[in-house]
Amino acid sequence: MNKEVVLSGIRPTGFLHLGNYFGAMRNYVRMQDNFNCYFFVANWHSLTTHPDTKELQNSVHRVIAENIACGLNPDKVALYVQSDVPEIAELYLYLSMLAYKGELEKTTTFKDKARLQPDNINAGLLTYPVLMASDILVHRAVKVPVGKDQEQHLEMARNFAERFNYRYGPVFPTPQAFNFGNELIKIMSLDGNGKMSKSENQMATLYLADDNDIIRKKIMKAKTDSGPTTSNSIKPDYIENLFTLMKLVSNEDVYTKFNEDFNNCIIRYGDMKKQLAEDMVAFISPIREKAADIQSNKELLTTIIHQGKEKARYSASATLTEVRKSIGMNY
Ligand code: ADP
Ligand code: TRP
Repeated sequence: MNKEVVLSGIRPTGFLHLGNYFGAMRNYVRMQDNFNCYFFVANWHSLTTHPDTKELQNSVHRVIAENIACGLNPDKVALYVQSDVPEIAELYLYLSMLAYKGELEKTTTFKDKARLQPDNINAGLLTYPVLMASDILVHRAVKVPVGKDQEQHLEMARNFAERFNYRYGPVFPTPQAFNFGNELIKIMSLDGNGKMSKSENQMATLYLADDNDIIRKKIMKAKTDSGPTTSNSIKPDYIENLFTLMKLVSNEDVYTKFNEDFNNCIIRYGDMKKQLAEDMVAFISPIREKAADIQSNKELLTTIIHQGKEKARYSASATLTEVRKSIGMNY
């Protein structure tokens, strides 16, 4: 039986963090055996908001290295860089003739980003969803593991696919956002303000590249309070977040002990954070070290990126042959 095609992308706009790990990369790793997976670094997309490319190559290498360090196997999946696959750009051109100015202007992410960069509302930003649809449709992917914020883009990708099929003939399946397992994990930032993120709230976000002392420092500074005064209270969200992290990286009996202490109003947050900090160090440090090893081995990186490009272009060029045939542009 043919395996279903899965695709997802990460923009190389900063350091990957615990939210990316538990919200995205862990799911990629879990899918690699049972699906035909394409995972890529969306470096064209990053130009829509980050035109300065001084750090770009480094960031692309780091995203590749960190994905492998987290368990993604480049022999099992196609792990590639978007700009290595020119077929995506060609498909983007065809799809852009099927995308309307009005719908692009109404996209939430466009409106948000336009507000953040009023001096650089470029056409790439406006057509971001068209490029994203091309990323997906170029491999005729059906499952796209992404967070909730990307659902509107997925809906647009389905619309573009359907318009293409209606006008030129059935080439594309309609892709769906996919959530592996039922839990959608959201990792809040350690100061209780919003979520961990690549570029905001850096002292309250745990990055996969953080060294052990920084990890300890960030966790010891995490927001807490004086503790509950009635037993079995509901946890405030910043406390719940510490328990979420503990559940993800500590032993079950450690979690149970602190949870009982909370319910019995005898919790000492200092002790809890000390324990969490050590468990977090044990969790992050092997990933950081493995990623650093890969990142410093340029020859290995080049081989992996080249291998990914070959796999991606093999699939993408087959789709483009179909696309050109359907449009009638096969001379
Ligand atoms: P960021 O906000 O850090 O730039 P992205 O928007 O590029 O992250 O998201 C990449 C992937 O990581 C998405 O699938 C998203 O759902 C997931 N993700 C990002 N931040 C978190 C978080 N704090 N908790 C859970 N998942 C997250
Ligand atoms: N827009 C996605 C984000 O900001 C990144 C992305 C680009 C993507 N192309 C994609 C995700 C294709 C899934 C499929 O997170």
